[in-house]
Amino acid sequence: MKIVTVVGARPQLIKAAAVSKALRARHREILVHTGQHYDEGMSGRFFAELGLPEPDLNLGVGSGPHGRQTALMLQGIEELLLAERPDWLLVYGDTNSTIAGALAAAKLHVPVAHVEAGLRSFNRRMPEEINRVLTDHVSTLLFCPTDAAVANLAREGIVRGVIRTGDVMCDTLDAMRPAIARDTTVQDLGLVPGEFVVATIHRAENTDDPARLRAILDGLGATGLPVLFPVHPRTARLLDAVPVPANVRRCEPLGYVPMMALVSAARVVVTDSGGLQKEAVWLSTPCVTVRDETEWVETVTSGWNVLAGADAGRIASAVAGFVAAAPSLTSVSSLGGASAQIIGALEDLHAGAGSP
Ligand code: UD1
Repeated sequence: MKIVTVVGARPQLIKAAAVSKALRARHREILVHTGQHYDEGMSGRFFAELGLPEPDLNLGVGSGPHGRQTALMLQGIEELLLAERPDWLLVYGDTNSTIAGALAAAKLHVPVAHVEAGLRSFNRRMPEEINRVLTDHVSTLLFCPTDAAVANLAREGIVRGVIRTGDVMCDTLDAMRPAIARDTTVQDLGLVPGEFVVATIHRAENTDDPARLRAILDGLGATGLPVLFPVHPRTARLLDAVPVPANVRRCEPLGYVPMMALVSAARVVVTDSGGLQKEAVWLSTPCVTVRDETEWVETVTSGWNVLAGADAGRIASAVAGFVAAAPSLTSVSSLGGASAQIIGALEDLHAGAGSP
């Protein structure tokens, strides 16, 4: 099979790492990087760190308003698909790179396979929610990481081609566990395992509203614990205008292995990232999510994740609650093995050359 994979943002490099390696063992993959994330800290370093092959094509679209960014991607991906005529287009998650890849392929009748299909926040003000819904509705194969995702698709009338696979981010984490165990970043930063918080903030809903960003930082301040805050470039520009509490230590975005080592050693993670909510739970670290809803409802129902919105008091008390009593370890189930299932499903459908 010939497969075009489209990635563009940091979390997609982490998701593609596990699948690309397995895919290339038996098939031809053409890896397209849209260039949505473009600097060393958000993109470049992850290729070497995760053993992801260098992109065959980098569209270099960079930053910009949603329409322009997505349009440039669409144009570049369409040209490649016309030249290559692949058997599948593979996309991940919910970014502008995801919808651009899916839309370009669907219009050319190249079947789309969507990894992390079916996730919903039910908040259509999130650009990611628009990207997810539209991508799912033009996909031929929809790989769902959770039962809730399968149910979400069924409610929208999508039942054909839906496969519950587990989670590719779990595959990447499992592959990197030995490197994470060897990592010395916690000690290098002078942090005491079990006695600090790791925080990340980058969602538009939190960074576009200074009142929300300020409330989250106030909540981190009120935890009274040392907080390490690797700052996403979108957020960095706003921090001059918002006071950062003294216990909150900023740093540049980190690589995957150091970040996972920090999450593993932290007492609590505070985040608005989708991926980190899951990674925290898989690494047995409780999570406080600074959003009003989550796509990863299982992390909340398991007791490992609490939604605190952008409310300083709720954030501080949720962290204090986890410091007082960590959840029991038995409630976390393994979701590994997704990459092999995804490749198997692509092969099966290609061999049958039929519809799912
Ligand atoms: C994007 C995704 C989001 C994902 C996130 C992970 C969309 C709509 N959003 O959000 O789903 O969770 O990536 O990080 O696709 N920037 C840099 N260097 C970079 C990348 C970005 O400086 O390498 C800055 C740019 O100024 C840019 C801003 O960050 O304007 C935001 O980047 P953008 O690609 O628009 O989306 P993210 O906020 O990263």
